[in-house]
Amino acid sequence: MNNKKYIIANWKMNCDLDESKQLAKMITRNYFSDSNVELVICPPFTNIYPVHQILTGTDIKLGAQNLYYESEGAYTGEISSKMLKSLSCEYVIIGHSERRQYFNEENLIVGKKLKSALEVGLKPILCVGETREERENGQMKNVLSNQLQTTLTGLNFSEDDLIIAYEPVWAIGTGLVASSDQIDESHSFISSFIFNQFNNIEVKILYGGSMNESNSEEILNINNVSGGLIGGASLYPEKFLKIYKNAINSKF
Ligand code: PGA
Repeated sequence: MNNKKYIIANWKMNCDLDESKQLAKMITRNYFSDSNVELVICPPFTNIYPVHQILTGTDIKLGAQNLYYESEGAYTGEISSKMLKSLSCEYVIIGHSERRQYFNEENLIVGKKLKSALEVGLKPILCVGETREERENGQMKNVLSNQLQTTLTGLNFSEDDLIIAYEPVWAIGTGLVASSDQIDESHSFISSFIFNQFNNIEVKILYGGSMNESNSEEILNINNVSGGLIGGASLYPEKFLKIYKNAINSKF
């Protein structure tokens, strides 16, 4: 596996058109390219194209936050992987816990979305993670293995086609960060689970959940952490670029 890291901004349902353009401009102005770390921005659907225009000519990549698994047809309000590809998206977040929680996205649906992304050559960032209750009941490994097994079985992928984001649900947007030991344990578990179940594939695993400019240095230096999926802090160019800088300086 190469040493490449990924710092991915998930803007969620934030930023209207002007705000998105402004944020993208601030990031591009203060960004310096580094071949070891890929910077990816995932704006809301409506702002993907204007942000794409601002990112053109930089090495910053574009992603989406979701897709629908059918390629076209009478699915009012939905967006397909093919449409995202035509907007120059290279990445797509799939199975985020907010989608699982608020939009009833179950593992079977997440699996179909992964398949649709892989078919058009979009790189999925598959989010997995346990709730606080599941962790307290000692279910963390069961939950992760079930999420991975159900969504990835039957898919055709190699190690460069897919990224996993470990996002403990209790750490997302709460200011609570998993400890280094907890992150290490979960990432090591995911890494060996995928290696053993899916043809010795060594997949990249990002951490997500209240990562910010202050805690990112420590997190990005944990073994098996190949970067971060950043929500809140990605809305502030200085904070986001500090996290990016910490990824460049990290040792793994
Ligand atoms: P957060 O969100 O950084 O605001 O916790 C992370 C995510 O949901 O991807």
